[in-house]
Amino acid sequence: MKRLTEFDDLIDPTFSDAVIAWQRAHGRHTLPWQNTRDAYRVWLSEIMLQQTQVAAVLGYYARFLERFPTVQALAAAPIEDVMAHWSGLGYYTRARNLHACAQRVVNEYGGVFPSDPALLADLPGIGRSTAAAITAFSNGTRAAILDGNVKRVFARVFGVDQYPGEKRVEEALWRRADALLPVEGIESYTQGLMDLGATLCTRSKPECGRCPLQARCVAFATGRTAELPVRKPKKATPEKRADLLVVVHDGEVLLEQRPGSGIWGGLLSLPEVEGHVALGDTSPALMPPANLAGAFARFGEVEEAQALLPLVHVFTHYKLHIFPHKLTLAERPATPAEFVWWKLAAIDEAALPAPVKKLLGELARPSLF
Ligand code: ADE
Ligand code: SF4
Repeated sequence: MKRLTEFDDLIDPTFSDAVIAWQRAHGRHTLPWQNTRDAYRVWLSEIMLQQTQVAAVLGYYARFLERFPTVQALAAAPIEDVMAHWSGLGYYTRARNLHACAQRVVNEYGGVFPSDPALLADLPGIGRSTAAAITAFSNGTRAAILDGNVKRVFARVFGVDQYPGEKRVEEALWRRADALLPVEGIESYTQGLMDLGATLCTRSKPECGRCPLQARCVAFATGRTAELPVRKPKKATPEKRADLLVVVHDGEVLLEQRPGSGIWGGLLSLPEVEGHVALGDTSPALMPPANLAGAFARFGEVEEAQALLPLVHVFTHYKLHIFPHKLTLAERPATPAEFVWWKLAAIDEAALPAPVKKLLGELARPSLF
């Protein structure tokens, strides 16, 4: 047999047959942007549907078309007017790109959307997948889509156990998407993939019992629909260290007012030893600061220094290892600016970060065990 593409081994006409037959029997057929070949209407719907579900789009789509019935009307409208009709749909870059795209279609293409997906994909707001969807629906052009829903369906059906957002994996999915295109019926096939992803092969609890791809689905066969597609690999959480001084005298503890911005902004906290990676810095530094012993003498002669148990506090972007050092001073020093002495017995009333509050709470009410 003659080779159709360099990826012959991915070709399988029974895949598109199954999707097309299912779409015709069970897919969506009465959405307002279906049953038209008007590229303006199809384009508008695909942009609105990029990050928004059908139910949320319906009303906006109707009102938008009423106000801007043609690409010429949209191109000529003031941007404020366009934004006002987008207001509430979210992802407002879409609206700015929409307006810019309409103007380019009018100025460069005489108001007629190009039918070549490569030319469409060069216009603002139109990526490769959206370009393919627009030309499939408005011209019957054979071009592959690969949006988030289709990636999910493919990752499950073909058991792709690598993160689909990774470039090499995505390129492999595009090759599959191209190889699986039907010879005929691109509209039903494209809509069918979208409908499958949106209605059956949903992110959580896919309805495999009603799915036309079940018999060939690797995720279904191996019980891995919850694991596929593979989620974005998490970067290791950076770990940092902070050495805090617990300076006590006469039942009071020395607290420092933190600057208004940054980590723990505006709260009181324990004075922090400088000299290693500070709170809010990004590189891990679990070594004690070089000048630790010297830092102990910052507020006066130290009678006793005691290392308290370290605490771990997890922030969104890093893990902080807190090393508290309890210092008993020979005599009470003059209070530096930005510092206050706070009665340990009343520590619950201080505006402290949670881990510091916990630490000082335990110091004020020592456990019996
Ligand atoms: N999501 C993206 N394009 C769509 C379409 N044409 N119909 C339904 N949902 C979609
Ligand atoms: Fe998705 Fe289930 Fe169908 Fe596989 S069988 S494609 S997991 S709905």
